[in-house]
Amino acid sequence: MKQLLIYCRPGFEKEAAAEIQDRAGQFGSPGFARTKDDSGFVIYECFSPDDADLLARKLLFRELIFARQMVVVEAEVKDLPLDDRISPLLDAAEGMELCGDLRVETPDTNDGKELSRFCRKFTVPMRQALRGKGLLTDKEVRNRPILHLFFLANNHALVGYSYSFNNSPFHMGIPRLRFPADSPSRSTLKLEEAFHVFIPREEWDLRLTSGLNAVDLGAAPGGWTYPLVSRGMMVTAVDNGAMDTKLMDTGQVKHYREDVFSWRPARKNVYWLVCDMVEKPARVAATMAAWLMDEDCQEAIFNLKLPMKKRYAEAVHNLQQLKEKLAELGGFHIQAKQLYHDREEITVHVYRPFKVARLVPKE
Ligand SMILES: C[S@@+](CC[C@H](N)C(=O)[O-])C[C@H]1O[C@@H](n2cnc3c(N)ncnc32)[C@H](O)[C@@H]1O
Repeated sequence: MKQLLIYCRPGFEKEAAAEIQDRAGQFGSPGFARTKDDSGFVIYECFSPDDADLLARKLLFRELIFARQMVVVEAEVKDLPLDDRISPLLDAAEGMELCGDLRVETPDTNDGKELSRFCRKFTVPMRQALRGKGLLTDKEVRNRPILHLFFLANNHALVGYSYSFNNSPFHMGIPRLRFPADSPSRSTLKLEEAFHVFIPREEWDLRLTSGLNAVDLGAAPGGWTYPLVSRGMMVTAVDNGAMDTKLMDTGQVKHYREDVFSWRPARKNVYWLVCDMVEKPARVAATMAAWLMDEDCQEAIFNLKLPMKKRYAEAVHNLQQLKEKLAELGGFHIQAKQLYHDREEITVHVYRPFKVARLVPKE
C-alpha cells in the first residue's frame, strides 16, 4: 500500500502535510503529500509500495501533532451506484486482513457534515455485509485493524484500515463531548478533550481525582478550572480578571489576581498545572518548563497559540525548545496535539511517568 490518509482540521492541511512528510522522511519512508485547501485531509504518497503499512504500524500516531487519524488506503472507489454502494465497496475490501471494527467517516467539513447522516445509516448494512464476507469479526474486537470507509461524496469513498494500537480510538478522530451547561465557558471542552486524549481512562482515578491540587494560569472566567473542580480538585486560579461566581461558591477555588508569569505556589503540593492564554508560545512554553523543572507541578496541560504563517515550523520549534530545557532534568514525556476544540493552537501535555507511579491509589 502506497497511500497514507491523514485526517486533520480543515485549514491545517499544509501543516499536516509538512509534518507527515517530515516524520515519514526521518523514519526512512520518503514520499510526497497531496493536499487540497480546507479539505480536512492529506494523502501521503509513499515512494515504496509497502511503506504506508509500515508507517501505520511504526510511526507513532501519538507523536503526530496535526493528524487526527492515520489510515492506510487500500482502494479509492468512485462512481458508486447509489442503489448499491455495498457491492463495489466489498470488492474493494476483498483481500484485506480481517478487521475488528468498522468506521464510516467523512472529512470534518461542511460537505462532510451533510454526508454524516447517510454514513450513520449506512454503517449497519455495511457492517452486516462485511461480516457476511468474512472481512469483519462477528463481534467488535479491539486487537484487530479497524476498517475505515472515508466518504468524500455520496458516491466516492476511500477504503482503508488503521491499526488499533497506533490510531485515534475516536470516530473521525474526534472525541464526542457534551458541554456541561453550568460551565462558564466553552473552552471547558478543550481541557476535557485533552484529558480524553492524553490520560488513559484507567488512570483517571489516580491522575484526575479529588485530593489533587491544581493551578490554572490565566483562568478567568473558569472554563479550564471547571473540569478540575468537577473532578473534586482544589484549584488555585491566577488571573487579573473575574472568576465565575458559581465556581467560587464551590469553595474549591482560590483566586489570585496576580501576574501569571511571576506567581508561584508557596508549597510544593501542586499536582496539575493548566494554562490557556493568548500569549507568545515561546513565553508560555518557557513558563511551563520552569514550573516543571522547579517541581512546582508534576503534570501540565497548556496551549501554544500558533502564528498565521509557518505554523508547523513554529510548533516544532517551541516543542524542541521545551524538550531541550526539560532534558536537563530528564524523565519527561511530552505529547502535543491539535485537538478538535483547538483552533489556531495546539495543546501540549507534559508529565513524568515515575511521578504518576508514586500517586497513591484510592481505596
Ligand atoms: C483565553 S483567557 C482564559 C480562558 C480560560 N482558560 C477559560 O477557559 O475560561 C486568558 C486569560 O488570561 C488572563 N491573562 C493574560 N495575561 C495575564 C497575566 N499576565 N496575568 C494574569 N492573567 C493574565 C486574561 O485576563 C484572560 O482571562
